[in-house]
Amino acid sequence: MNQLQGAPWLVAHRSMLKPNQPMRISLLGNDYVLWQDSQGAINALSNACPHMGAMLSEGWCVEKPDGNSTVACPFHALEFDRAGCTLLPSSNKPTKSLLQPLELIIQGDFVWTYGGHEPKLSIPGIMNEIASEYEFIGVTGNRSIPTDILSLLLNMHDYNHQNGTHRELFEIEEVQVKQFIDEGLHSHAYLSQPRKQPTLRDILRNPGQLAMPQVLEAHLENFFPFMGLLHAENKLLSLKECHFYLPETEHQSRVFVLMYMKAHSPIAHLIKGNLLKLIDIVVEQDAKVLGKIYPDTEQRIKLNNEVGMDWVRRNFASFPAIAEPNLSRQWVA
Ligand code: FES
Ligand SMILES: [Fe+2]
Repeated sequence: MNQLQGAPWLVAHRSMLKPNQPMRISLLGNDYVLWQDSQGAINALSNACPHMGAMLSEGWCVEKPDGNSTVACPFHALEFDRAGCTLLPSSNKPTKSLLQPLELIIQGDFVWTYGGHEPKLSIPGIMNEIASEYEFIGVTGNRSIPTDILSLLLNMHDYNHQNGTHRELFEIEEVQVKQFIDEGLHSHAYLSQPRKQPTLRDILRNPGQLAMPQVLEAHLENFFPFMGLLHAENKLLSLKECHFYLPETEHQSRVFVLMYMKAHSPIAHLIKGNLLKLIDIVVEQDAKVLGKIYPDTEQRIKLNNEVGMDWVRRNFASFPAIAEPNLSRQWVA
């Protein structure tokens, strides 16, 4: 997988890592074991044990007197420290590193990596700003989907699929792209989406609906290829819905969403759980469609409002270079 090398990827939020609990992540065709020790240090090594190939992520952590922990292999219990060294039963001296550590960039609760590739894009500061100003609600929609990263990104920047993929959820009647600002690998889309009002039954079934007004005004801020932010404002709350995309292998991609809010009313606190559930359903619906498309189909029909997808395709083809055309022009309101 040489496409998209050099982009930063957010592989986890700290809350996804229970202390001393190994977790597997896949990125650009490689598997790693990720773990956080009780002091909050986060480590990552290649996941294949150098003895006989067992997945270290299936093992456990062993806490040491200094608070660091090792990861123990589930097969024969060899323990590896954060540098990938182990102690063989026959000796007291640690071996040289037998497992390549994955370089991580930890910014507060955010675990970023370039997957061992030379950085071509810098990590934007916006997540740190959001984390310092907004209340963290939680992680949701964490799913590994059997689809390639381009198909995933096209879906996530497709402003027309609400009526198909998400038809029962939002009841959106129309999508208008009011403005699209193309700044190369960064862009803004301003959408206006009139929707049918939910019935009382809908609200009882999903009180998260209360947070959704008659016209969904959405401001999407896109960071190609790794992140898409939805900035939403209403009477109850200001919401930051932060989507992260990861190419796990050529045919498998992961998405997860970090939710932040600023409450303008005490009611906002009552619907936090529902908001997480709502977004989980949204991602589930996307995953269902993405698992059922033929990715190599030639597109022979073009709809309005495909500017987000045009932006994805152009950037995917030229990454990390920024190529023309500037897609803002045709969309300035
Ligand atoms: S396979 Fe890991 S210790 Fe043997
Ligand atoms: Fe979707």
